[in-house]
Amino acid sequence: MIAVKEINKTYRQGSVTRPVLSLVSLQVEKGEFVAIQGPSGSGKSTLLNLIAGLDAVDSGSIEINGCLMSGFNEQQRTLFRRRHIGFVFQFFSLIPTLTVAENIALSLELNHLTAGMNARVEELLDNIGLLERRSSFPDQLSGGEQQRVAVARAIVHKPALVLADEPTGNLDIENEAIVLRLLAELKQQYSSTLLVATHSDDVAARADRVLQLYGLAEGR
Ligand SMILES: Nc1ncnc2c1ncn2[C@@H]1O[C@H](COP(=O)(O)OP(=O)(O)OP(=O)(O)O)[C@@H](O)[C@H]1O
Ligand SMILES: [Mg+2]
Repeated sequence: MIAVKEINKTYRQGSVTRPVLSLVSLQVEKGEFVAIQGPSGSGKSTLLNLIAGLDAVDSGSIEINGCLMSGFNEQQRTLFRRRHIGFVFQFFSLIPTLTVAENIALSLELNHLTAGMNARVEELLDNIGLLERRSSFPDQLSGGEQQRVAVARAIVHKPALVLADEPTGNLDIENEAIVLRLLAELKQQYSSTLLVATHSDDVAARADRVLQLYGLAEGR
């Protein structure tokens, strides 16, 4: 499902260069739930962003379902991501001008999956305990509530691949369990592949496999 081969990524700001990923390779099979752990700053978000095509690798290759993401241009990556990937951003990235329900519905609308859309959105809202907040705007929600909406938005179109960046980082145990259950259902019912960056040992314990990312040494 995912084949990452020897990717490198260095951030550059003016004369400052910050190598983050050096020759990172990994393979994830269809339907697998893989957790990525590692210290803050080790590059977990960077890796997920690259796999999602939100950013481009310096070198190396990324294949998803046999498609060479690293060979796509930005528009091709966007179209591929919209259809096949659900992404949970570490800092939610909900659209501030859309209501909770509209944020969740957006992935369905963009994919022209509007038949039964309202029922699907309401089902998810109910699952995450936010049905009465459907008309609220993101800035009227707590961090944990926004995070649950971000998860719902990522899974609403039943994507083949969910890339989730700390999807439970702001949640209490009860809501962490809800998010894990939603992800597990997606995996069970649609054989979706899950790649989840997490500091939570509870989340990692639920994964089929845990990958460890080590930060590159300081003083590089
Ligand atoms: N756009 C950017 N420009 C420059 N440096 C960046 C950029 N994004 C991330 N970095 C740096 O890259 C390194 C890896 O960041 P990243 O966000 O991938 O870490 P992480 O493992 O997700 O950390 P955390 O657990 O805190 O979320 C950090 O040192 C960070 O400061
Ligand atoms: Mg991160």
